[in-house]
Amino acid sequence: MSVAYDVDAVSVATPNDLDAFWMGFTANRAFKQRPRMVSRSKDMHYYTPEGRAILDGSAGLWCANAGHNRQPIVEAIKKQAEEMDFAPTFQFGHPLAFKVASRIAELAPGDLDHVFFCNSGSEAGDTALKIALAYHAVTGKGTRTRLIGRERGYHGVGFGGISVGGISPNRRFFGGMLTGVDHLPHTYDREKQAFSKGEPEWGAERADALEGIVALHDAQTIAAVIVEPMAGSTGGLPAPKGYLKRLREICDKYGILLIFDEVITGFGRLGFPFAAERYGVVPDMITFAKGVTSGSVPMGGVIVRKGIYDAFMNGPEHMIELFHGYTYSGHPLACAASLATLDLYRDEALFERARAIEPIWADAVMSLKGKPGVLDIRQVGLVGAFDLAPLPDTPGKRGYTAMVNAFHDHDLMLRGTGDTLAVSPPLIINEAQIGELVEKIGKTIDSVM
Ligand SMILES: Cc1ncc(COP(=O)(O)O)c(C=O)c1O
Repeated sequence: MSVAYDVDAVSVATPNDLDAFWMGFTANRAFKQRPRMVSRSKDMHYYTPEGRAILDGSAGLWCANAGHNRQPIVEAIKKQAEEMDFAPTFQFGHPLAFKVASRIAELAPGDLDHVFFCNSGSEAGDTALKIALAYHAVTGKGTRTRLIGRERGYHGVGFGGISVGGISPNRRFFGGMLTGVDHLPHTYDREKQAFSKGEPEWGAERADALEGIVALHDAQTIAAVIVEPMAGSTGGLPAPKGYLKRLREICDKYGILLIFDEVITGFGRLGFPFAAERYGVVPDMITFAKGVTSGSVPMGGVIVRKGIYDAFMNGPEHMIELFHGYTYSGHPLACAASLATLDLYRDEALFERARAIEPIWADAVMSLKGKPGVLDIRQVGLVGAFDLAPLPDTPGKRGYTAMVNAFHDHDLMLRGTGDTLAVSPPLIINEAQIGELVEKIGKTIDSVM
């Protein structure tokens, strides 16, 4: 069956059959009846096929931190496509992959010195979990096989990621998943935290639940804990003050590896190269993706502490140390895009810029407090999240309608997760655009109340 698309109403550039593409994380039938189509982007904006400018309130999908179609990134990709399209990184190498790894390791805190490349946040999550298990195996602690995630956590859609993840619709149709997984409680309590600017005062004690998990399973069975420093996909939950430090202390006490999933928080979203620096906590591994190329070419990876990497560098030298990797790990186009992106972040001081404008951003998003139907607003770094009162008996409908209205009626792209609206603009956003963005969100919220 084909779904007709009214070509005349938009542009000849738009396909007239939308049926074949099964879109991920999308209400396919509703989308295909009234598509939200974009075909061009530049800096802070997308453009629809008919040329309407859409303010990008979500950096695409938390990716385009440097803004869209930045010329140096475009040029670097073009040049690399001419020079060398693909090269394997299994048993062979190409210079750019080593350069990017060094640049990323330089940005990471402490002795997070080694980078394992993959192509997405999901692959990064699964890679980090596998490295954790393998690390314990090669260091004679093979009983440590349990992986601990957190309720409301999101670590992508691989079996590892959904096993430690804690968003139930992402898990419930997909069988038994990994065995030996447990979850920390999430950190959100509206009564205690509502309308906090930045990290909420309450909630560090939620980390102590790890002590209970250790008591239940025995530390000697636990390999790693994985958390997002700011839980993005569930609706933007900043870490409570002191929470991540507390988690680090408990992991240290019991020899458990700590993994930060920085797929969203990496590359400036919270005003630092990595959120680990904002919180003064050095995890054992950091996963990244998205912002590493400002979304221009798929790339992901795991940054690993020296001691973990070194533990594998044993045995006969002709032997592969870790039986893991992806054909496209360190793809030349991704590496070229990443180097140009990292240069832009440095040359335009975009992480520092995000930190500098955070107070203006915080005031702007909090200015919608008091609007009818807004139950909570959260903010950290250049992230804002608005909880709308759900419609009776149809949770998620109001948030969905708001996302649709924002696009069609207010020229704004934002993320809707359930009845929460999330915004995370490119880090190049200026003060006037912050005002415009918040005004559009306000109108969008009014349209669904
Ligand atoms: C924290 C986190 N981890 C992992 C992922 C998965 O990344 P990807 O969609 O690139 O697989 C995401 C995606 O939004 C994410 O937010």
